[in-house]
Amino acid sequence: MYYPDNLVEEVRTRNDIVDVISSYVRLQKKGSNHFGLCPFHNEKSPSFSVNQARQMYHCFGCGKSGNVITFIMEYENYTFQEALKLLADRAGVTLPEIEYSARDRERDNLKARILEAYKEAGKYYYYQLRSEAGKRAYEYFTGRGLSDDTLKKFGLGYAVTGRNLMYRYLKSKGYDDNVLKEMHIFYVNEREGMTDMFWNRAIFPIMDVNHRIIAFGGRVMGKGEPKYLNSPETMIFDKGRNLYGLNHARTSRKGNIIVCEGYMDVISLHQAGFDQAVGSLGTALTSGHVNLLKRYTDNVLLCYDNDEAGKKANLRAIPLLRAAGIPTKVLDLSPYKDPDEFLKELGPEEFEKRIENAGNPFYYEVGVLETGYDLNDPDGRTRFTGEVAKMLLKFEDAIERDNYLEGICKRYRINADNMRKLLAKLAARGEGLPEYEKPRSTSYGSKKDPEGGIKKAQRLLLTWLCEEPEIYKKISRYLSSDDFSGDIYRTVAQILFEQINEGKVNPAGIISRFTNEEEQSEVGSLFNTKLDKLNTKAEKEKAFKDILLKVKTHSLDLKAREADPTDIDLISTVLENKKILRELGELQIELSEDTEEQ
Ligand code: GTP
Ligand code: MN
Repeated sequence: MYYPDNLVEEVRTRNDIVDVISSYVRLQKKGSNHFGLCPFHNEKSPSFSVNQARQMYHCFGCGKSGNVITFIMEYENYTFQEALKLLADRAGVTLPEIEYSARDRERDNLKARILEAYKEAGKYYYYQLRSEAGKRAYEYFTGRGLSDDTLKKFGLGYAVTGRNLMYRYLKSKGYDDNVLKEMHIFYVNEREGMTDMFWNRAIFPIMDVNHRIIAFGGRVMGKGEPKYLNSPETMIFDKGRNLYGLNHARTSRKGNIIVCEGYMDVISLHQAGFDQAVGSLGTALTSGHVNLLKRYTDNVLLCYDNDEAGKKANLRAIPLLRAAGIPTKVLDLSPYKDPDEFLKELGPEEFEKRIENAGNPFYYEVGVLETGYDLNDPDGRTRFTGEVAKMLLKFEDAIERDNYLEGICKRYRINADNMRKLLAKLAARGEGLPEYEKPRSTSYGSKKDPEGGIKKAQRLLLTWLCEEPEIYKKISRYLSSDDFSGDIYRTVAQILFEQINEGKVNPAGIISRFTNEEEQSEVGSLFNTKLDKLNTKAEKEKAFKDILLKVKTHSLDLKAREADPTDIDLISTVLENKKILRELGELQIELSEDTEEQ
């Protein structure tokens, strides 16, 4: 905690959560909540809710919750300080410089220095490409059909042959070894010191969506291994969350994004006018990539290489995109190997036709499956049909499933009614049922409660007290923050009880007291535990009392167990505990009539 609580609170309260989230997620008002598609996990129907009164969000699908600050942290992948800065700027609040922790400042400075150094390195490679030494590389690029404009647009360069030219260059520009080390474009060697990673290679700078260089790829110009040498992941570069060319493609007006494999594919596509192309650079598409794509498009065209690796890449990408609800099509490049080759041979008009004729991803999957069976053999046909049936069962939506069933049966001349019967049989056996979509990261939502629901009871109790703080006065004699398990719950209880005593309950403010993202999410869920829908006042009172007793019993048991067994006071403690629980059991708790939960 580096900024004073009241300042954090000011920034938070000056940024209405619905306003802020609306600029990232399309929200629709339903009752007292706003709903939209959760930006933190893949889903087709909205389970992400934003509550204006409480100034909190909660996803009923993945369990993520929090306040406006945690939202920015999660969405932008920011630290607490960075998120606070963004929101402070947005609301016109000036943050004092001094409150910044030395360690954080150091880390941010280091990041900024690394980015500067990459930019400097990129300029150096760019300059070398145009020098006498870079002639061969320049000819290599132009020989592959790239124009000067394209070289410039992608900032392509050349790494000169030399042991440590780049190293010495950046040193001369004033960068320290600790910055240079973090760039991971040097080999660190005991004897020789730091040496350049790229020698005599054509250089492809990798940029983030804001055109900042975050890594480099270098290609041999001729024979040699490896063909592409890529700088590894660093504190700035995360392969699974970055797509090559997205800095340009994000502003394309084509209405779709073409995903392909290599640097040269992306570059050639852009040069040919397909400025919506991005590359996953030899790695399989990840859910991080899919989340990124989802921010910029609702229409993906898969354009992986026309070979075994490309086929595998398609088969991996399709289910991810499907789960994210992004309409997808698969391009057929045959007989050419990749988009770059295709464009060279047939040109942009033919490529445009391939886009128009791009295939349905389900048919693609079935097409790949088909190659493993002999459909002229009755046995092969039967087994193929069985597999297709299982694949059809993955469609949760009945109409969608039946449309695919019809289509596929026509295509492979399978009797549709028989297929429906087969589906029914498989479903009855529980086969091929849709897998549960797992949330991206763990907070409580995904974990089982090892203590028999005790944490859930504690969460319910906190949620309830937050909803109806007046009850607390009746039970405060029996309940303290010590009755809760773990640091987080205890701290939250303590702050909540303080707030109740001061007469201003404010859960979103409690979240801001935690600076770590995981903790914030846990605290957020803590206030969003769903209270069962209970109809009568009596039912509610009974439920509340059960929860309270459960929490208190657990806490007293724990204390008794932790006590020294030879302690002569133990018996009396246990008896005292019994008395407390009996009193609690008899306590009259008047709940209000109108506790209502979404
Ligand atoms: P060329 O057209 O031959 O320049 O390559 P390409 O752009 O068609 O790429 P290719 O299909 O050969 O590979 C796709 C992507 O995989 C490349 O853009 C690289 O990111 C990556 N890749 C290719 N070869 C290597 C390699 O030898 N090592 C590593 N680490 N990555 C590679
Ligand atoms: Mn190629």
